[in-house]
Amino acid sequence: MVISARKPKILIVDDEPVIRDILTEFLSLEGYDIETAHDGLEAREKILSGKYTVILSDLKMPNLDGMQLLQFINDRRIPVVPIIMTGYGTIETAIDAMKAGAYDYILKPFKMEDIIRILDRAIERYNLIAENIQLREALSLYHMSEEMSSKHTPEGIFELIISALSEALSPDVIEVYEIQKNKSLRIITRKNLSQEESLPKLDPERLKFIAASSSTTLLEDGSYPEGLFVENTPASALFAPIKVNGVNQYLLAIYKLSSNQIFTEGQRKTVLTIADRSGAHIENIQLVMKMQTTFSETIQGFAMAIEAKDRYTIGHSERVAKIALELCKGLGLSEEETGRIFQAALLHDIGKIGIRYEELNKPEKLTPKEYEMFKLHPVIGKKILQPITFLQDILPDIYHHHEQYDGSGYPDGLRGEEIPLGARILAIADTYDAMTSDRPYRPALSHEIAIEELKRCAGTQFDPKLVEIFIDIYNNRKAK
Ligand SMILES: [Fe+2]
Repeated sequence: MVISARKPKILIVDDEPVIRDILTEFLSLEGYDIETAHDGLEAREKILSGKYTVILSDLKMPNLDGMQLLQFINDRRIPVVPIIMTGYGTIETAIDAMKAGAYDYILKPFKMEDIIRILDRAIERYNLIAENIQLREALSLYHMSEEMSSKHTPEGIFELIISALSEALSPDVIEVYEIQKNKSLRIITRKNLSQEESLPKLDPERLKFIAASSSTTLLEDGSYPEGLFVENTPASALFAPIKVNGVNQYLLAIYKLSSNQIFTEGQRKTVLTIADRSGAHIENIQLVMKMQTTFSETIQGFAMAIEAKDRYTIGHSERVAKIALELCKGLGLSEEETGRIFQAALLHDIGKIGIRYEELNKPEKLTPKEYEMFKLHPVIGKKILQPITFLQDILPDIYHHHEQYDGSGYPDGLRGEEIPLGARILAIADTYDAMTSDRPYRPALSHEIAIEELKRCAGTQFDPKLVEIFIDIYNNRKAK
């Protein structure tokens, strides 16, 4: 809710024409902008379509009286200062009116200087409210900027924008669209803060024009481009493109549904600032994401180069990653956790870079010395990846992927659930793929034999619950 500084506009509500006339004449001469209503009903209509600083209302009127009008202003949280005029000069009525939200009261018959004095104080009060609201807006904007730097995904930024805008603008609906390469818009998220079920619906073709705009667009009912809304036209709409690398990549659409509070120019500027800042942050996030992807791809490239030296292990890491992915899904892990384990799977044998690989893939059995060397690959893998900040989360899974459920694995001999979940998943995926691929010392085993082997080693080498899920996944696939 924002109130802008402007010439005080006063609504006089009284069923007696003579009172309306006297007050209009006198207060107009004093420089106020005056409008009148003959009862509460008319006043309500006017308040909904216009913006007033002060409402000077009679208490007893036909149709809708002063108390009911106060109730209406309160319920809708309309930013206006109400003053009650009453001819029934009991102090109780005045107190009741004050309790119902009136700022002050005037007893009839009144003196003009009393009216001026009370009006001046009411306007001061109004300006104070306006200042407070603006301060609150500025403050929430500041907090939002601070918080943005802690977000690492565009979705995180949108969540923040929505919460800041909800507080600063008291809108009814906030929508975030993604502007796709062919310029069409895809809705990413919508927050409905109103009680309404039927929300505004935009014409997708006309929305493309709005989305292409270089700045924020503030529109009200009556000034919308023809056909922009196909259903439930809102009272006021604010559209703000979010530019990333100089290109409009997202669009914020914010609506007020009822006409008593339309967006102001000040609010348009607030939204413009928010959109600009979010654009800059999303640009950074996308840059970091791109760097991380490039980096991961480079490391993966190394891992694959190692595999490629030998026809037996070609594509092993990728297959392990795919199996791990299915296990994660079967376990119902979060997207974030699944992504982490997938990446760990791709890089699980990266440590083999540090080992003379030819020796490890010879047809004969490894000598005890060679086996000891082979067992170092999880340790070496951890060392290789340790300096890379954004890969820290996947280190435990890589380091422990040869641990065994009964504690007989390496490097640390962890047992049961001491072994990170990701590492327990990798152990199954890794072994299954190794068994079902050709090896220098034996041909590939069949799926059935591999499953039997997993079952046999459930509880000793592998987490028995995970083996069960793995078997379920394969059985379900077979059933399909
Ligand atoms: Fe390994």
